[in-house]
Amino acid sequence: MKQSTDKAQASPTKQFFVSMLTRDISLDDAILDLLDNCLDGAMRIADGDEVDYSKHFVKIKLAKDQFSIEDNCGGIPRDVAKNYAFKMGREPDDDRDSDTETIGMYGVGMKRAIFKMGRNALVRTRHDNDTFEVPITSEWLEAKNWDPLPINEPTKASEKLPQPGTRITVKDLYEGVARHFENEAFENKVRTAISEHFTMFLQCGLKVELNDKPVEPVRVEVLVSTREDGPAPFVFRKIIDGVVVSITVGRNTSHALGNEEDEDAGFERDRSSATAGWTVLCNDRAVIVGDKSRLTGWGDGIPLYHPQFAIITGIIEFRSKRADKLPVTTTKRALDTSSNVWLESLVKMKEGMRIWIDYTNQWKNQASSEQQQARHWEDARPMPLGKAIEAVAQRKAAKRTDEEGIEFNPKKNKVLPEPPSKTPSSRRVTFSKPAEEIRLVGKALLDDENAKPGDVGEKAFDLALAKAKKRGG
Ligand SMILES: Nc1ncnc2c1ncn2[C@@H]1O[C@H](COP(=O)(O)OP(=O)(O)OP(=O)(O)O)[C@@H](O)[C@H]1O
Ligand SMILES: [Mg+2]
Repeated sequence: MKQSTDKAQASPTKQFFVSMLTRDISLDDAILDLLDNCLDGAMRIADGDEVDYSKHFVKIKLAKDQFSIEDNCGGIPRDVAKNYAFKMGREPDDDRDSDTETIGMYGVGMKRAIFKMGRNALVRTRHDNDTFEVPITSEWLEAKNWDPLPINEPTKASEKLPQPGTRITVKDLYEGVARHFENEAFENKVRTAISEHFTMFLQCGLKVELNDKPVEPVRVEVLVSTREDGPAPFVFRKIIDGVVVSITVGRNTSHALGNEEDEDAGFERDRSSATAGWTVLCNDRAVIVGDKSRLTGWGDGIPLYHPQFAIITGIIEFRSKRADKLPVTTTKRALDTSSNVWLESLVKMKEGMRIWIDYTNQWKNQASSEQQQARHWEDARPMPLGKAIEAVAQRKAAKRTDEEGIEFNPKKNKVLPEPPSKTPSSRRVTFSKPAEEIRLVGKALLDDENAKPGDVGEKAFDLALAKAKKRGG
């Protein structure tokens, strides 16, 4: 064969491209993608220094005829707009963010969100003093070719933005989208998603408004006593495959150990519901909040989640300047559980959970369990991950494994309160049983066939005791 002058067209049609791109993302996730961009912007202007999030705002408006999002996060530099920002997909030579903990990596988020919502959009941005506008129109969308988008200059003062930032508006919304935007249930869904996913930024002072109402962060915290020998969470930090992994597992501010009569005992409880289960953070975004499934280890060598464990909160954070090293999927709202860094971390997560599962097992059949525990926990304060690690790291018993590495096991260090039955006046009960039978009883009583024989025996005894007491009195 020899090459002819004829050529076969092989470029994607816009219609195909747009429908493929938007197919797998939900409308609320598309909105969160736009918020991710605002925060990446804030991080870029800080240029490696700590970001003061209290200086930044994001205002989102959902209405049946228009969507808008506006921020003061630095705007898009003109050369970035010309060469990168509006391309579908990142260029291999685009190494702008190699030195920051930004989350953008694929080069599709903004375009995908716009295409998902409607047929006409306008991106107005101001970087330093340079304001310009990029329209994405239905004509451009319908045209067969991939012509570059125009960059328009402001002609009136009113077309400038008051401070560096970006304002994206989308009009001619698709019918289903318009219906969602005027629906209060959808607004609430987006509000919850923002308060969870961006909780760390909101807690650091970032102001996000949704339809003129501020979004409040959810609190994900563990209790830490300031006493050297007071109760504290399990803490672990290590660099795995170039990612800084920080873990804490501890007790949260809820007090459901199964004893309802203990309603008013205890410590600071100004927050109505504590976030039990696992929260996973990647570069400060909460990918998952309060997970109680197999995904985060429940029911996998340790018991399945059930209400007895509602006092247990685990937080794990992955940090890296290389966004592609984080264990997240392409939508950034789900975990990539096949990654090595996740699998290695899971071992430590379970180690931490085991401590607190044992703790709740120890206390659950104690009379006035809450009141008895309260005196030990009195001076404990709820803290988010970073603060909790900092506080525990100051204890002498905290083990430094290397410059970044740290480990603290509250059980081994005997700082967790023990029920009175464990005090010296009690006697030891020991007996042997076939391993298979222990597994059976463990499964039946503790929902865990791998439970320690001692725990199984103790549980069996506690149940017999409760029965005997009932009969006796
Ligand atoms: N609100 C904003 N503030 C500053 N820059 C922005 C903003 N929104 C978009 N950009 C610029 O536009 C670029 C393209 O955004 P887009 O979301 O499409 O891709 P990305 O963030 O690079 O990657 P990803 O697809 O993973 O989100 C960003 O890299 C950023 O430079
Ligand atoms: Mg993005």
